[in-house]
This record gives sequence, C-alpha cells and structure tokens, in this order.
Amino acid sequence: MSAPVSRRTIAASLLAADFSRLREEVAAVEAAGADWLHLDVMDGHFVPNISYGPLVLKALRPHTALPFDVHLMIAPVDPFVQAFAEAGANHIIVHAEAGPHLHRTLQLVRALGCKAGVALNPATPVEHATTVLDIADIVLVMTVNPGFGGQSFLTGQLARIAALRHAIDASGRAVTLEVDGGIGAETARACHEAGADSFVAGTSVFGAADYAAAIAGLRGVS
Ligand code: DX5
Ligand code: ZN
Repeated sequence: MSAPVSRRTIAASLLAADFSRLREEVAAVEAAGADWLHLDVMDGHFVPNISYGPLVLKALRPHTALPFDVHLMIAPVDPFVQAFAEAGANHIIVHAEAGPHLHRTLQLVRALGCKAGVALNPATPVEHATTVLDIADIVLVMTVNPGFGGQSFLTGQLARIAALRHAIDASGRAVTLEVDGGIGAETARACHEAGADSFVAGTSVFGAADYAAAIAGLRGVS
C-alpha cells in the first residue's frame, strides 16, 4: 500500500477580496473549500501599506467557521496581540523582526489560546524560525516582500522552504510550513515539492471566476 499523500491546506487571503462585500466573499471561499481564512494586517510602518485591524475580524467572526489565520505585519506587535486573539484569531503569525523578544511574543500568543506562528521575510535568515521551533506551531515563508497582493513569486525562496522542512522534520515537532505570496497552482506545486504544507492565496482565488476550481488547482487535484 502506498503512503498517504498529505492534503495541502489552502488559506484564502482576504486582501484580494471585494472589500465592499467581505461577508459574502468569506462565505464564497468557505463554500468553495478553503481550509483557513488568511487575514493580512498591515500598519504602514512595518510594511508600506495599511489594511485593517481587529474590528474587521470581530465583524466577520460570527459569519464563518473557517479558522482565522492572522498575519500581523505590524511593529511593535506585542501591544496588539491580545486584541486580535479576542477578535477571534485562531492562529497569530508575527514577523521575526516585529518585537524585541520573538520567543516571548510566541509565548504570549500561546497563552492567549492561539496557535503561534513566525513569519520570515525573503531576506530574514531561516535561523530566526529554527531557533523558536519549540514554541512555534507555524512557520510562514514570505515568497514575496510583504505589503501587497498580486506580486510575483520569488523562486529563490524554494531552497529556504526545503531547509525549513528539513529543520522541522529533524525537530520531530508538528510545525506547519506555510508559504505566502504569488501562490497559484504552479507555484503551490513547487512549494509543496520543497516541503510546504499550507498555501496562502489571494489573487489566484479571489481573482478567479470560479473560486472552487482555483482552490482545487492549488490543492493539486484539478
Ligand atoms: C502580502 C500578504 C499576502 C497577500 C498574498 O504581504 O502577506 O497574504 O495577500 O497575495 P497574493 O496571493 O495575491 O500574492
Ligand atoms: Zn499574508
């Protein structure tokens, strides 16, 4: 009997949705088979763009069963972690550079009952994640520079994904390896081959005519 093939987790990124119809857009990706809703929070300081804050999470929370995969691109991050937990976050992902004490921030996220994630910018050394695998549930590799949707996938990140896969396997811990930025069917396949198991996709889902077909393509089952 062949080994079971792990199913790819698909996180639809709300950043590419029609913001005038957020509730309907969330319902549509949930019906289309998304596993998680990815929420990109930007402060105009850590990244050169501003998106939305905890009030939007709180407003959407009663309308979907999708886990909220919250990607905080804000610094300092510690003063806002509790607000996002209370607004309904299931996963809180912080950037390695977003606070003076990454390990403490991840402890705080866990203490609030959320899964804790560390995000790496394209130029952030992988050691920023491998040194906190004892307290991390998710490692998110940015495959574009953070701040905007619709950018082109950075192929150079594939080797880093493979290195992180190796480190996670060596740790023996069940840490999710997520990729974010420029993910479509082809780049998802390349990232999966490199060792990623979770895939954030904005433009390739919300920009598609058929959300279910787009998600199936990302999963590699279309
Ligand atoms: C970018 C965000 C991404 C973004 C991805 O800073 O972290 O989650 O929504 O958008 P696409 O899938 O369009 O590259
Ligand atoms: Zn993101």
